[in-house]
Amino acid sequence: MQHDAIAVIDFGGQYAHLIANKVRRIGVLAEICQPEDPIEVFERYRGIIISGSPSFASHGQDSEYTRAIYDLDIPIVGFCFGHQQIAEHYGGELIHGGREWGKAMLHVVGDSPIFRGLGEVEQVFMSHYDSVVSVGDGFVEIGYSQTAEGQEGHRFAAIANEELKRYGFQYHPEVDDTLNGETMLSNFVLDICGCSPDWSMEGFLDEEIARIREQVGDGSVFLLASGGVDSTVAAAILGRALGPERLLMLHIDNGLMRKDESRRVVAAFDEIGLGDQLHFVDASDVFLDALAGVIEPERKRTIIGNTFIEVFNAEAARLGIEDHLLAQGTIYPDTVETGGTKRAHTIKTHHNRVPIIEELIAAGRVVEPLADLYKVEVRDLGEKLGVPHDLVWRHPFPGPGLGVRCLCSDGTPDDEGLDAIAEQLAHASERFGIRAQALPLRSVGVKADLRAYEHPVLLHGDADWDRLIDATSFITADIPGLNRCIWNLGPQMPSEVRPIAATMTRERLDVLREADQLVMDALRHHDLYSTVWQCPTVLVPIEFVDAGGQAGGELVVLRPVHSARAMTATPVELPMPLLDELRGGILALDGVSGLALDVTSKPPGTIEWE
Ligand code: XMP
Repeated sequence: MQHDAIAVIDFGGQYAHLIANKVRRIGVLAEICQPEDPIEVFERYRGIIISGSPSFASHGQDSEYTRAIYDLDIPIVGFCFGHQQIAEHYGGELIHGGREWGKAMLHVVGDSPIFRGLGEVEQVFMSHYDSVVSVGDGFVEIGYSQTAEGQEGHRFAAIANEELKRYGFQYHPEVDDTLNGETMLSNFVLDICGCSPDWSMEGFLDEEIARIREQVGDGSVFLLASGGVDSTVAAAILGRALGPERLLMLHIDNGLMRKDESRRVVAAFDEIGLGDQLHFVDASDVFLDALAGVIEPERKRTIIGNTFIEVFNAEAARLGIEDHLLAQGTIYPDTVETGGTKRAHTIKTHHNRVPIIEELIAAGRVVEPLADLYKVEVRDLGEKLGVPHDLVWRHPFPGPGLGVRCLCSDGTPDDEGLDAIAEQLAHASERFGIRAQALPLRSVGVKADLRAYEHPVLLHGDADWDRLIDATSFITADIPGLNRCIWNLGPQMPSEVRPIAATMTRERLDVLREADQLVMDALRHHDLYSTVWQCPTVLVPIEFVDAGGQAGGELVVLRPVHSARAMTATPVELPMPLLDELRGGILALDGVSGLALDVTSKPPGTIEWE
């Protein structure tokens, strides 16, 4: 069935996926498009949404894209950067200034259909530096802003040309802080674009089953089953579409799994009635040999992705099933995050999109039944397919497993620029009454929508959560080169922190597995497992030396976050008794000298550390 669909042009803003997700919740399919896609791509949509961007429209940044969209007879709305693009394209003016950040009040002017059903004043979420200061012929202001405290804000917070069906919102309707953002989106999608809300998970299930049957024909598929939510739901839908006899699954212990994970995966597949289809291979030696001595995060990811395929191929040859199609539980964000446009930064390549897989995809040899879905949708589908609730609601676990949570180092301090940073940190320390020291290594983060490796900061002080959060916001926003803060859970500020040479070894992974198990057990025991969205435990090759010169191990970092779609996240304030329990358990592990809690939101920190 052909669905009415909306194109979301992703200018690299952090919210493009959120926009698509919210449109889908209205029952209309939304797909991510790239700004440079040929005009034919856009012609098949009923409407276009232009996302935000880290670029400054006022400086002409990112102004070259498929501008022929404006010649299409299709409604277009832009948010933030998109709003500024529309204003400027039709003769309006922009300035670099008028920054608004956070909640603001939108005063609606006139009776545009895009604001049907809303009040005269609406709370909206702003996040911009540039502003629209005039509009071209045919455009009118349909809303101006005031600060949440009632002070003067900005003209042209929302603009429209009803005849052309062109709209712009300076704020972000897709963010929950825009309280009636969903009504604004549905007015655009349903009324202005005229889309039928006919996209549902039930409908998807039927269509996807038909699509799988068509692609696979009389053949069979071979699925890599990690035991995570995505591959388990993929197994369930493939089993439903093809019958168990045409589905073979392989679970590989890559040496980067959690404690006892492989045993649990085998048990889970028994539980969903697909146990007989699952082969198990312990390839931990192969993976760890391939990773021996490798330090650079992106190389680790590529090696893990390639080794999966090698082991998979070897196993397929052993089982005599080379003619089977390869199935993967890839989900939608994984397919677009690494898209080959100028905005994609190869700081993180998805392991499902390494070159060998891309070749197989081009040859039509890969089945990806979830490639159009977001995680929330995958979970919904899993429930509909009867996958047990606990499995569907497991915390997400990255494909490269503990590989991205076991940081490696050659032992050389990465401390360039840290002297200057130390001076600035001293001011922050004084201001917040908390000790602060940058660590001589880097972890990945995302600032202004760009991923970059920067230094974490160790904070030490009493446990006032709001103060920790304020200090973290201040430090990461105001001091260049720093992207996350961790709060020391050890009894003292270390007198020295020094990097240690450490690569991906079974011994280190075992330490991490033990720590991770303690964390997972504690979350369950304190009844927090299902309220915390994800909680990576990270092993960081930094040694804490105490005042007596004693050291003897690495730093473990806990990263509990609340999130909905992993695009943004906030740190979780874990209860003191739980932290005390972990302090006792983890600091007592051999090979650990420090324990800290990551207190950074995303942005500027990412959820994982590499
Ligand atoms: P970040 O670290 O980008 O993570 O905030 C967002 C979500 O993606 C997961 N993640 C990965 N998943 N392969 C995966 O399959 C990866 O390389 C990878 N890196 C991050 C992460 O666990 C979180 O849920």
